[in-house]
Amino acid sequence: MTDPVRKSRVFSGIQPSGLLPLGNYLGAIRQWLGTQADHENYFCIVDLHAVTIYQQPEMLRRKTLEVAAMYLAAGVDPRLSTIFVQSHVRAHAEGSWLLTCVTPVGWLERMTQYKAKAGQRTSVGAGLLVYPVLQAADIVLYDANEVPVGEDQKQHVELAQDIAQRFNHLYGETFVIPQAVIPASGARILALNDPGRKMSKSEAHQRGHAVCLTDDADEIRNAIQRAVTDLGREIVFSQQPEKAGVNNLLEIYELLTGRPRPEIEAHFEGRGYGEFKQEVAEVVIEALRPIRERYRELTGEPDELKRILEVGAENAAAIAEPKLAEMKQKMGFLASPRYRVK
Ligand code: TYM
Repeated sequence: MTDPVRKSRVFSGIQPSGLLPLGNYLGAIRQWLGTQADHENYFCIVDLHAVTIYQQPEMLRRKTLEVAAMYLAAGVDPRLSTIFVQSHVRAHAEGSWLLTCVTPVGWLERMTQYKAKAGQRTSVGAGLLVYPVLQAADIVLYDANEVPVGEDQKQHVELAQDIAQRFNHLYGETFVIPQAVIPASGARILALNDPGRKMSKSEAHQRGHAVCLTDDADEIRNAIQRAVTDLGREIVFSQQPEKAGVNNLLEIYELLTGRPRPEIEAHFEGRGYGEFKQEVAEVVIEALRPIRERYRELTGEPDELKRILEVGAENAAAIAEPKLAEMKQKMGFLASPRYRVK
């Protein structure tokens, strides 16, 4: 079904619901940079997902532009990749409804993120339950082959596969079945103050939880110096739960320096955790410095950001709208001249 001459298509997105922590960069954005040259890329700011939890309206508008600025500052190139806001392409919301109607509710209730988030609340918005169907629509509307994400999104991409397969089965071959692309290292960056949990955007404002991409040198040094490690002395890559804190800092160091693991372990052999953390902090500061500087420039040019997003939405709609029209035609909706694909 995939056109043999078309480049492999990539779709991914981030919610504009808070400051972007290092985990979003290492688990997702860094991977995106690797596919820019030889893939067809769609990188979305998923604002419709963000409102599954109440967002202060002015903040949502601001965060949406800030995440766009962060994509660009981190190296996503609008000449090579389409950068756009989800709500600017109506096909996402409409396609999501059509897919909701082919999705058994049991599939959604099984999602671990839903269970975790719903468990923390007394009243659960319906959006939280159908959230992964919207994510499936994001992906299949572009016939994306690859979905580069961190480990926490693997289950959602698998659900997108199941939904796409079910639609294909009911209405005939329509969608490419997408594959999650999870990095070997950095797929789950852990909270600095609690290496039993992942570093998360919703907690990024808490002291010591995360390094954010916008943090200055002092903030980065403070967060990393206070990172929870263990009572041992060994600075080695390890999957042992008690070494999770050290392993986390080593993965961050590995990803930002590009040095091989044995070389890193030899480099830190016999050195104390204090010295180790100091060096990790300096590496993070240097890696984020150009991103932070470029981000500051870009947030000062909101008109330019909006122009890039407008072009992005046009390009994205050119793919998503015909796909939505195909879905509607296959499902039996009566065509209308009021609903014409541009
Ligand atoms: P979100 O906004 O929570 O996270 C954005 C991306 O960052 C990855 N990530 C991490 N990777 C490693 N370590 C961490 N601690 C960490 N925290 C976050 C996530 O895995 C993700 O890749 N539902 C999605 C957004 C979405 C999407 C899509 C993604 C909507 N539609 C379509 C791919 C394709 C989400 O909330 O991501």
